[in-house]
Amino acid sequence: MSKLFEPFRLKDTVQRNRIAVSPMCQYSGVEGSVTDWHLPHYANLARGGAGLVFVEATAVAPEGRITEGCLGLWSDEQGKGLASVASAIRAAGAVPGIQIAHAGRKASANRPWEGDNHLAEDDPRGWQPIAPSRIAFGANLPRLPREMSTDEIKRVKQDFANAAWRAANSGFEWLELHFAHGYLVQSFVSVHSNLREDSYGGNFAGRSRFPLEIVEAVRSVWPERLPLAVRFGVVEFDGRDEETLEESIQLLRAFKKAGVDLVDVSVGFTIPEASVPWGPSFLVPTAARVRHETGLPVATSWSISPLAAEQAVSGEQLDMVMVGRAHLASPNWTYAAAGTLKVDQPTQFLPEAYAHWLKRYSPV
Ligand code: NDP
Ligand code: FNR
Repeated sequence: MSKLFEPFRLKDTVQRNRIAVSPMCQYSGVEGSVTDWHLPHYANLARGGAGLVFVEATAVAPEGRITEGCLGLWSDEQGKGLASVASAIRAAGAVPGIQIAHAGRKASANRPWEGDNHLAEDDPRGWQPIAPSRIAFGANLPRLPREMSTDEIKRVKQDFANAAWRAANSGFEWLELHFAHGYLVQSFVSVHSNLREDSYGGNFAGRSRFPLEIVEAVRSVWPERLPLAVRFGVVEFDGRDEETLEESIQLLRAFKKAGVDLVDVSVGFTIPEASVPWGPSFLVPTAARVRHETGLPVATSWSISPLAAEQAVSGEQLDMVMVGRAHLASPNWTYAAAGTLKVDQPTQFLPEAYAHWLKRYSPV
């Protein structure tokens, strides 16, 4: 019996299994809107068998895009395009989810295949990134951001709420807030990037204020019956890991009180020189600790094989498994995993279903 392939219920959603396609930027939008790339891409991922398909990091404001090819949800027009994607995911049997994001000081970059670095300051396609403090990420992203005023903090909070409201109107049934990977919200929490002296910086309570206010603003517009997840970098691998993890757990408990239903456990990626212990399933034990100490359902990603996914779910370390790159390599990852784990597959995917036609087929 596979626990990974048991249906997963959270709030009013029911997924056919506990596998989710992790959000993955496609850098293929135009002015924040979907193009002909997105609908078949996400429909294929849904047809591949995952229970939940997340649409990539979608910016809540124009300056919150990582690249000019990133999607956005700051206009109703963008919402209409995304509604077709949500509908296509649902038609293929998966629950449609979306991640909303603001890239902060990592914004205004080239697409990965164009260099993955900041656009030059005089490049007309670029814009000035914003951040809690005037500190650059460094390495390939050296551009100095502008420090946000308190009015701007309020505006971005409202942008998150507006995008959440549009996501619900576009038919998405899962919402993930991107508070990870060194983007805007993670950079408010991290001591490496937040040197503010006002009430949005300083001690842990100050650094937690912006994310908590966003969760509260989003929860007030995102339907109560639908799950709200947060992707959060709980650890930086910067040498002060126990302290960071303890603070993260405290913040996640506050998120839980404010209405968050699941944590997608990730890495902070706030400093380029972190020593991340890359390896198969490396973040699963940390996610299990978060699950135990917060009482929240958890998911995580990072190099998880079908067998490791099954073990993590049946061993109650994870409630759901996020699978990223393997889904880009093969959208049918979930059906292949079902084969590996010897789980029954839908009739349409069994070779016997096509035997009648296949026997008449000779490859040309
Ligand atoms: P980078 O992708 O620039 O990676 C930083 C360092 O970590 C590099 O040395 C890189 O190695 C290494 N690295 C990154 N991912 C892996 C991995 N899975 N396995 C082994 N080594 C890895 O860092 P970023 O801060 O830009 O991104 C952090 C993570 O988030 C990356 O894993 C990236 O793939 C992912 N990502 C997140 C996005 C989002 O949240 N919107 C968008 C795109 C990517 P090397 O130089 O060999 O690649
Ligand atoms: C990513 N990742 C990512 N994460 C996120 O939270 N939002 C995003 O939009 C993206 N975009 C993105 C694009 C591409 C091309 C890659 C490869 C990765 C990270 C991704 O969701 C996942 O966590 C990692 O790839 C690790 O999981 P896997 O790939 O080991 O299963």
